[in-house]
Amino acid sequence: MNREQMSKVAHADHPIKSPVDDDSVRRLLERGLPPGSKRVLDLGCGGGEWLLRALATYPQLYAEGVDVSEDSLADARQSAIRLGVEERLVLHHQEAEGFTSPHPFDLVLSVGATHAFGGLLPTLAAARTHLAPGGRVLIGEGFWDREPSPEAIEMLGDYSDLATTVDRVVADGWTPVHGHVSTRGELDDYEWACWGSLASWALDHPADPDSSQVLETATTRRSEWLRVYRDTWGFVSLILRQTSH
Ligand SMILES: C[S@@+](CC[C@H](N)C(=O)[O-])C[C@H]1O[C@@H](n2cnc3c(N)ncnc32)[C@H](O)[C@@H]1O
Repeated sequence: MNREQMSKVAHADHPIKSPVDDDSVRRLLERGLPPGSKRVLDLGCGGGEWLLRALATYPQLYAEGVDVSEDSLADARQSAIRLGVEERLVLHHQEAEGFTSPHPFDLVLSVGATHAFGGLLPTLAAARTHLAPGGRVLIGEGFWDREPSPEAIEMLGDYSDLATTVDRVVADGWTPVHGHVSTRGELDDYEWACWGSLASWALDHPADPDSSQVLETATTRRSEWLRVYRDTWGFVSLILRQTSH
């Protein structure tokens, strides 16, 4: 099973591919999309879950999503058809960094995808180019809640602590107008869902040639989470406005 197929199975019970629960997603979208918002863009949209929920909630909204994963975009398209919102969703199969659009957006989202741009500030720089006057950015990024081990840095990348993360964003010309730090429950639910779904798939398909590889991956990843980063890694979602225009 390749990486994309494995990711699809892992997210079967948690289609938002970030440690954020349904209620937090709803509240973040509410803050990011004040009344009158017309267009939303998601850079690194995956299966389009954030956009689909926004489209289902706000009937006047148009959405565009960008991702390099053709499979995830196909899932997004299928879900949009199922929800009857496909006419208001445009999906772009390409690198988010090179994406350009003839029109600006009231909300630019990028959750758990800053690696697509090489980090937090380059992601915000890209988001800025897509923003309508007065528009907002919803960015979701990891941070170190406690001093990480070298192994955790090696595994997840080199994040800042929460205060430093927000300071960097503010120094870059943004004002957070809302924020959500994923709770212990959201962080744990996400990891249990991913590695649990993978393990369940393996147990449900014992005759599949991929079964033992998938079970081994689920076991290894669950153990890495519990041993290496569960106690140090956190996730923050920020709603940002430009401090000056
Ligand atoms: C952790 S997932 C988050 C998906 C979605 N934002 C969510 O919260 O459900 C990261 C996504 O970024 C996408 N991605 C990675 N590199 C990318 C790039 N260079 N351009 C566009 N998308 C990219 C991946 O394919 C994946 O769908």
